[in-house]
Order: sequence, then structure tokens, then C-alpha cells
Amino acid sequence: MDVILHEAIRIAKLAGAEIKRLREIGGYSESLKDGYELLTTADLASNDIIHAEINKLFPEHDIFSEEDEQKTHTLQHPTWIVDPIDGTVGYANGHYQVAVSIAYADNYKVRHGVVYNPFLDELFYASKGSGAFLNGNRISAKDTAELKTCVIATGFPPKKNNIHDAIVRLEQLLPHIRDIRRLGSAALDICWVACGRLQGYYEEELHAWDVAAANLIAKEAGASLGFYKGSNNPGTPECINGNHVLVASPNVFDELRMVLYI
Ligand code: IPD
Ligand code: CA
Ligand code: CA
Repeated sequence: MDVILHEAIRIAKLAGAEIKRLREIGGYSESLKDGYELLTTADLASNDIIHAEINKLFPEHDIFSEEDEQKTHTLQHPTWIVDPIDGTVGYANGHYQVAVSIAYADNYKVRHGVVYNPFLDELFYASKGSGAFLNGNRISAKDTAELKTCVIATGFPPKKNNIHDAIVRLEQLLPHIRDIRRLGSAALDICWVACGRLQGYYEEELHAWDVAAANLIAKEAGASLGFYKGSNNPGTPECINGNHVLVASPNVFDELRMVLYI
């Protein structure tokens, strides 16, 4: 196994074990980021562990994390793209759909992606060109062409001031599918498309740290990736662009994209 992937897995498991421990002992507190978004001290503890481990091994690499104040990156140089807890709202409510997400990119491409759910001990990972895995077993997107049998997930932004489009899209979509899920972690939603538990996932406004690792895992699992509407992030490399993201089983991707268009 590639040394970077090996370390990304080790670090995701280390951070994952700590957030699980903190939740089990009630050892974290809550606050609001920017006045509306839930942040826990476990998000910060996870971020500190990931930084310390990467800095120890690869001091010359950049880190681009949701929980850092300075968030600049070029992706040209070796860069680790980190979401210390994806699913913070679920984390703070005792849910199990929570992950640590770590991707590694250079020369504008994500090379390795790891998404670890410590509560279910499920480790999703992929390296570019080498397939996608869940706990060591190869995974692939479900082979289906019938949208009406599909279970599709979505998510909503932490700030609820502009949800009109999301509601219209949901209303348009529901009659075409079997059911909808809102599971609470974008990274795991995308990995669930990768392993066939979902057949599609879309969301209006995600960030690089939500999608970087999971998108590679989904792509390596044979899922189709793209956007259901023009992007607000022109110039951002596709692999980390979270705007209007759509990930789906390949044979329903085009139909889903059309149904989601407003
Ligand atoms: C959130 C989760 C959620 C998605 C939100 C994200 P966070 O990430 O991925 O599923 O719907 O848009 O912000 O804040 O828990 O890291
Ligand atoms: Ca996130
Ligand atoms: Ca987060």
C-alpha cells in the first residue's frame, strides 16, 4: 500500500477513535461558528490530532482543513484536505453517521481518499486508479437503470436562509424515486453511493473538505460524478468542487440530473 494512503488511514483511525471516546464520556462542549453553525470541541481535537500527525511526517505538505482559520490552498503542491468531523450535528445528537475525512492531493488532483466512521468501524478508502474499498473489500456502485427503484440522499446547508431551490428540487425529485434519505454526513453519503447502499446523492452547497476524499472513492467504485447545475466556483478543480454536486449509479445519473434541474 502507498505510504501516503497508509498514513491517511492511520491518522483517520486515530482521530476517529478520539472523537468516539470523547462522545462516550461526554467529554466535549458545543458552540456556534459564525453565529449559526454547530462546532464542538471534538471537531477541534480531531483537527489537532490530524495536524500533529501530518506535520510530524510531512512537514513540507500543506493542510487545508475546515477547522483552520487560514484556509488557502492551491492543490498544486502536496495538500491534505481535511474534515475533522463530517456530521457534527449528528455527532452531538448521538447518531452514528459521522466520519473523519482525509484526502491527499497534488498537481491539482486528489490521489488518495479516506473516510472513516468510527461509530460503525467502517473505513472507506481509494487511491487514484486502484479501485475503492470498504474495510479491505472492493466496493462498487449499484448497477441499476431504474430511477423509480432508487434511494437517493441529500443534505441541507447549516445556514437556512436560502433553501427555496433545495425544497423545489426535492418536490420535483420525490415522485421519480423510491425514497429519500437525509443521513447527516456528505462524505458518508457519497461513500454509500460508492458501495451501493444509495443510488444517488446531491447537495446544493458543499465544500472541498466534504467531497475531496469521498468523490475519489465514488469514482474508483464506478459511480458517476458531476453537477446538476452550473457551478458558483469557476476555476475550482472538479474533484473538490462541492457546488451542486451529484454522485450516482452510472445508469441513472443523466436522468437524475435532468429531474434535479430547475
Ligand atoms: C455537513 C454534513 C452534512 C451536509 C452539510 C455539511 P459538517 O458537514 O456533511 O451532511 O448536509 O452541508 O456542512 O458541518 O458536519 O462538517
Ligand atoms: Ca463537512
Ligand atoms: Ca466538519
